[in-house]
Amino acid sequence: MSSPAERRRILLDCDPGHDDAAAMVVAAHYGELVGVSTVGGNAPLADVTTNALLTAQIFGIDVEVHPGCDRPLVAEPLHAPEVHGVSGFAGPSLPDLERAPSTVGAIEYIIEAVRAEEGLWLVPTGPLTNIATVIRRAPDVAARVAGISFMGGSAEGGNRTATSEFNALVDPEAVKVVLDCGARILMSGLDLTRQFTVDDRLADDLAGIGTTGALVLSDLIRAYLDKAEERGLPRRGGLHDPCAVLAVTHPDTIERTLRPVDIELGGRLTRGMTVVDRRPMSRGGERTSPDRGEANVEHCHTLDHSRCRSLFLDAVATLSRAA
Ligand code: RIB
Ligand code: CA
Repeated sequence: MSSPAERRRILLDCDPGHDDAAAMVVAAHYGELVGVSTVGGNAPLADVTTNALLTAQIFGIDVEVHPGCDRPLVAEPLHAPEVHGVSGFAGPSLPDLERAPSTVGAIEYIIEAVRAEEGLWLVPTGPLTNIATVIRRAPDVAARVAGISFMGGSAEGGNRTATSEFNALVDPEAVKVVLDCGARILMSGLDLTRQFTVDDRLADDLAGIGTTGALVLSDLIRAYLDKAEERGLPRRGGLHDPCAVLAVTHPDTIERTLRPVDIELGGRLTRGMTVVDRRPMSRGGERTSPDRGEANVEHCHTLDHSRCRSLFLDAVATLSRAA
């Protein structure tokens, strides 16, 4: 496990969903989870905020949860009940909620936290609406953070549409603000996160840990797989969100290459599509032709699956046993 000296200090911005909950556990165990904020995405803001509070409660994570934006910058709200259930947390029987959200909203909280402490990592695992709003309101944030490691987009096909990944599709304008902000950016898109297999074996291994938290995550994943099967899809997917955390806490587990990345805002078929330019760059990353954008993103493209899977299960087991 990372030593305290090198533990990255993380602000997690999320829309739980089971994989956001998994990301919170990994961030709390291997990093310093300074704060959590929530954004409308998998489910409406009130639901994802409840789910974030429940995750922290179940795993004994001492962190405030700051509700953020309940709708995208421009687009109409879009949720994923067919994937995660109407509440975003379909599956397990859950305990009564004993925690309340902070009265400090996400935007104000993130701006204040970043201005108070240089070198924080922003790790968004839902639509980027909160992060984009922070950047628009306080552009100085981009230079003060260690980086923004987000789960979203894809270099190889979408999930909500043929071309677009859900988080990016919900708020493409927000993705554009983040891509252009000048901060160090790590992108964990579907081409990476699909390598972190979520299937019945993972649900079984979680159930085998036997703690309340592990059983909740196991039941969340089982319900996710059941819903996939109900839609005629395989009982298999990617455990997306923990990848964006591991890219920060365990950079040696995820290979990345500096590449130009942009997002389509107008296409009838391609709105929300992230375009990762994987053509060879010059050694220094300079543009090799006028049509190329700046190399603005560390495109995370190759995952050490067995290592990441072990890190995840160890975090769940250790944190849930101590809860
Ligand atoms: O497309 C996958 C992403 O959308 C994940 O972050 C999942 O939680 C949903 O937010
Ligand atoms: Ca998410």
